[in-house]
Amino acid sequence: EKKGQAMETREEKRRIVLVPFPAQGHITPMIQLGQALNLKGFSIAVAQGESNKVSSSQHFPGFQFVTIPESVPVSQHETLGLVEFLMKLNKTSESSFKNCISHLLLQQGNDDIACIIYDELMYFSEAAAKEFKIPSVVFSTGSATNHACGYVLSKLNVENFLLDIEDPEMQEKVVDGLDPLRYKDLPVSGMGPLDRFLEICREVFNKRTASSVIINTTSCLESSSLSRLEQELKIPVYPLGPLHIKSSVDSSLLEEDRSCIEWLNKQKSKSVIYISLGSIAHIETKEVLEMAWGLYDSNQPFLWVIRPGSVPGSEPLPEELSKMVSERGYIVKWAPQSEVLAHPSVGGFWSHCGWNSTLESIVEGVPMICRPLNGEQKLNAIYIERVWRIGIQFKGEVKRGGVERAVKKLMMDDEGAYMRKRSLSLKEKVKASVRSGGSSYNALEELVEYLKTK
Ligand code: UDX
Repeated sequence: EKKGQAMETREEKRRIVLVPFPAQGHITPMIQLGQALNLKGFSIAVAQGESNKVSSSQHFPGFQFVTIPESVPVSQHETLGLVEFLMKLNKTSESSFKNCISHLLLQQGNDDIACIIYDELMYFSEAAAKEFKIPSVVFSTGSATNHACGYVLSKLNVENFLLDIEDPEMQEKVVDGLDPLRYKDLPVSGMGPLDRFLEICREVFNKRTASSVIINTTSCLESSSLSRLEQELKIPVYPLGPLHIKSSVDSSLLEEDRSCIEWLNKQKSKSVIYISLGSIAHIETKEVLEMAWGLYDSNQPFLWVIRPGSVPGSEPLPEELSKMVSERGYIVKWAPQSEVLAHPSVGGFWSHCGWNSTLESIVEGVPMICRPLNGEQKLNAIYIERVWRIGIQFKGEVKRGGVERAVKKLMMDDEGAYMRKRSLSLKEKVKASVRSGGSSYNALEELVEYLKTK
């Protein structure tokens, strides 16, 4: 018994270093993972750059925050584009992260750090793990399918692929083991020059020495992609999500406007369409106005998140829009999204299909209108529409008539009613997976067991 007690005290003190990628959609699940591991007895150190960081003034009991000095400012994400930003960030951060880990080790002794868990995009973390002989685990905050596609892309012969992808026959070919995905669906658009993006995929996968992979998904959503990953990667894969279900930490980088909950309280059950395009996307004024007209014409009340800076050149928002909104809708700069989706008045979600938004919608049983913007979101939209059949894709140019039809289809037609029914049944399955004995619950237990042996 004494030995057991000694073990426990030691585990209590052991730390896990988390390295999130500095964007909301990546920080949130990483912090949620940190909270889950903290509840299992680990203390958590979050290593982050100077910008887009979670501040410790928000309440994170059991968390410590350390700065990776001289990290590339996040503003360069937009100016350089994702691929060049990632290349630069990973190059610059390698040695400063080593210093960071060496400081952490000095604080508490050499075997204090059980593991470094890093966002798959922060692959510079591997060098420090190797140097200090600390085990490392990759966290893929997107879907398992996206991770599997990344793997496929990392193994391709670049020259052949650059030619193949132009070939209509090849474009329609199913990606081996990833049905219904076709080659044309591989998430490469909006990422920058294709050859450079493929280089990143190779960096992410081929140099990896991490001992396992954590994915914020659950097996009932993506069993075939998970099987494919397990076969290919040959290391343990832990699908332990959706992490937000059990989380109570607020890792929002922007302030949430809670007044929308009061507005929702006044609306009829399942009548509101909620619109949000996540934390990064931009949208043109023309498209905003077409959407507004379509929403107005649909006669459904709507709650719309328009982030500051997300409609370039349109601040303040056009008067035409304000008028339409004052009659039927409500606009906020940032919403408490999970709470909004859980609200009984919300009946549909117009989404860009970021993976977090997708999971949050599934967990509340809300059917979706998908308007994906870049490659990875397009994968999620395919799954929403064709695999889980809980939403419709809005394709082509955004025009008011199309918006009106899509909203009516989702909120009023039989087709929408079927989607809602399937959403509710999927919600139950997903929620069961995080309860005691469920697949995600077990995956977390297995991960914790593994970390305790480190
Ligand atoms: C990015 C990518 O675009 C996405 O595809 C990838 O899966 C993760 O990184 P983002 O575009 O921000 O993320 O989308 P998403 O993954 O949906 O994350 C947005 C997060 O912001 C969600 O957790 C959502 O709840 C939150 N949010 C959004 C708010 O809390 N309030 C809002 O008003 C809008």
